[in-house]
Amino acid sequence: MDDMVDTPARVIDVTDPWLPVPHRFRHANEPLPRTWDALYGPLRRGCVDDLMVVAQLGQSIDGRITTNGHQPTYINGAAGLDHLHRLRALVDAVVVGVGTAVSDDPQLTVRRVAGPNPARVVIDPRGRLGAAARLLRPDGARRIIVTGDGCRAAFADGVEVMHMALTAGMAAPSAILAGLRQKGFRRILIEGGARTISEFLAAGCLDRLHVMVAPMLVGAGQPSLCLPPGLSADGALRPPVKAHVLDGEVLFDIDLSARRLPL
Ligand SMILES: NC(=O)c1ccc[n+]([C@@H]2O[C@H](COP(=O)([O-])OP(=O)(O)OC[C@H]3O[C@@H](n4cnc5c(N)ncnc54)[C@H](OP(=O)(O)O)[C@@H]3O)[C@@H](O)[C@H]2O)c1
Repeated sequence: MDDMVDTPARVIDVTDPWLPVPHRFRHANEPLPRTWDALYGPLRRGCVDDLMVVAQLGQSIDGRITTNGHQPTYINGAAGLDHLHRLRALVDAVVVGVGTAVSDDPQLTVRRVAGPNPARVVIDPRGRLGAAARLLRPDGARRIIVTGDGCRAAFADGVEVMHMALTAGMAAPSAILAGLRQKGFRRILIEGGARTISEFLAAGCLDRLHVMVAPMLVGAGQPSLCLPPGLSADGALRPPVKAHVLDGEVLFDIDLSARRLPL
């Protein structure tokens, strides 16, 4: 999450090699420029159905996604944050859980790199998100709240609401994806927090997972992924993984397509 402070508008640098990538990613059949193809090429289309669902999480070496200081502190450095904004620029919709929306008040816009803003989706089964949340600001991007069938909260004008059946307070990730597909989204970024990503992973609803490990040890702080036991017969998943070093941070690009359930 990089959204805890307002940043000034970005000045477009016409020599920036990233500049053509978001358009080419969506519209051209040829590979992306080599610098970007290994990391972002696999996100162009899903291989299980017509969706491509990628999750990204930044964590410390000791597996924490937040620090425990009085002020929110970024886990990732500049390269990690640029990567997150590149992902946002490539997807149609970005999804967060209401825990993140309430604690960080993120904007979920593309500000560090060139590219279009995705639609913003928050999973808020009980209608906890206040109307002043920054991700609900009208700026031309679609804003969607996924909430429980019985939720009677009033949401801000222009915000689309997806009512979902809940089981033990939770909506099935596959049903959330089906609803987003119906709204026209094909590439979807699950941006956190750990609980939301864990639910999507456990439900077989991720094609890829990007875990960005920052070179720091945090001690106390919110833990990263927490998965139920029994994900595989021998007790561990061993998906294909590629590691990329981004300016001192290590990005694990994890291919989960073999356990992704088709919608
Ligand atoms: N390092 C990073 O990359 C990163 C990224 C994002 C966030 N964060 C940090 O993560 C923390 C928040 O993470 P978190 O794990 O506590 O919360 P979270 O995943 O942001 O939100 C969890 C909540 O969202 C709702 N939710 C999510 N999936 C749902 C589903 N399938 N069905 C129904 N409801 C669903 C539930 O709301 P209810 O509680 O209302 O039932 C759930 O408790 C923040 O401190 C934030 O700073 C870090």
